[in-house]
Amino acid sequence: MCDDANYQWRIARYPIGNVQPEDFHWHVEEIPEPKNGEVLLKTHYLGLAPVMRFYMMGQNPSGETALKIGNVIHGRGVAQIVKSRHPDWKEGMMVQGQMGWQTYKVSAMTPQEKFFVMPNYGPNNKLPAALGAGVLGMTGLSAHAGLFATGSPKKGDKMLLSGAAGGVGSMVSQLAANVVGCDVVGMAGGTEKCDFIKKHGCRAAIDYKNEDIAAAIDAHLPSGIDLYFDNVGGETLQAALERLRMHSRIVLCGSISEYTRRDPFSLSNYTRLRRTDSMMKGFFVYNHLHNWEQVMDDLAGWIIDGKLKAVQDFVHGFEHMPRALANLYYGNNMGVQCCNVRGEPEIWN
Ligand SMILES: NC(=O)c1ccc[n+]([C@@H]2O[C@H](COP(=O)([O-])OP(=O)(O)OC[C@H]3O[C@@H](n4cnc5c(N)ncnc54)[C@H](OP(=O)(O)O)[C@@H]3O)[C@@H](O)[C@H]2O)c1
Repeated sequence: MCDDANYQWRIARYPIGNVQPEDFHWHVEEIPEPKNGEVLLKTHYLGLAPVMRFYMMGQNPSGETALKIGNVIHGRGVAQIVKSRHPDWKEGMMVQGQMGWQTYKVSAMTPQEKFFVMPNYGPNNKLPAALGAGVLGMTGLSAHAGLFATGSPKKGDKMLLSGAAGGVGSMVSQLAANVVGCDVVGMAGGTEKCDFIKKHGCRAAIDYKNEDIAAAIDAHLPSGIDLYFDNVGGETLQAALERLRMHSRIVLCGSISEYTRRDPFSLSNYTRLRRTDSMMKGFFVYNHLHNWEQVMDDLAGWIIDGKLKAVQDFVHGFEHMPRALANLYYGNNMGVQCCNVRGEPEIWN
């Protein structure tokens, strides 16, 4: 990435359906100078998430400021502080937080931007900074909060997981199988992704694009489901509700199959929860920020122990951010979709 300017992706028009190249505007401006109480951040990695399409539509489902046409798109990333005029944030520090789709940012490091110092972990006192864009970032916190704080998993649970090859899903499958001892059946689109999820914690895989979902769940989980971790909503959630064991739990993480529909999906069988004393519980990752340090310590420990393989799917080059976002909705990513903007920092305090 050139260090001669600040490159940005801004909203050119609100997307309809999946994002299109015409929805994005490439903007170049001078690298900004920090004032008193501010720092200059240089972007190394950016993470991508389905929610960014909603940001581009001017919506703020996660409490970020609603964007207008012409604004820089929201997105969290990993950055180095290259100039500091802030008493608490020192030059050389690696941080992760709300960077926006840009290669530099001046920031007063406000609570709204949710910046965290990248911890040093691992045998050489470091895991790669790149992990902060996903596995040791908001995706990791989402997987941890969704599985442990919301799903209350138990050893031996018969578990169904949709979106299993995606960012959150590929972590949940490994945490459930390798840390808790659940029996995980994952769902993903296509043979390659099904092979992938079987190497990442899933005992069996359902190719939801080519198999009958209900019949496949019955075949792999004939006695039913104790825990369903739902990333997709829609017909898959409906099918899971028909197959609950006693005291089962459904975690409402996401509903990506519904995001680009014109008419909302109407779930008609939620009352199935009654006959098995089951529960369906949502969670929102930002409501779990108070657990950040403990969760990152847990996840880093499991990476170092080999219980959690960190799977991040990189596009290389900031110019490819629009394609990377579209990829999520086409289902092209395996693991957390990220963008490598500048690679690892040379020196990191
Ligand atoms: N509650 C929270 O706080 C929270 C936090 C983070 C994420 N989320 C939600 O969790 C879900 C997963 O997020 P993520 O970051 O891990 O995204 P992601 O999985 O990395 O990307 C989306 C994946 O969903 C699958 N998909 C796309 N369209 C689909 C469809 N129509 N039906 C079924 N699957 C489809 C694709 O895999 P296939 O090729 O296998 O279809 C794709 O790889 C999303 O719904 C997201 O909005 C919620």
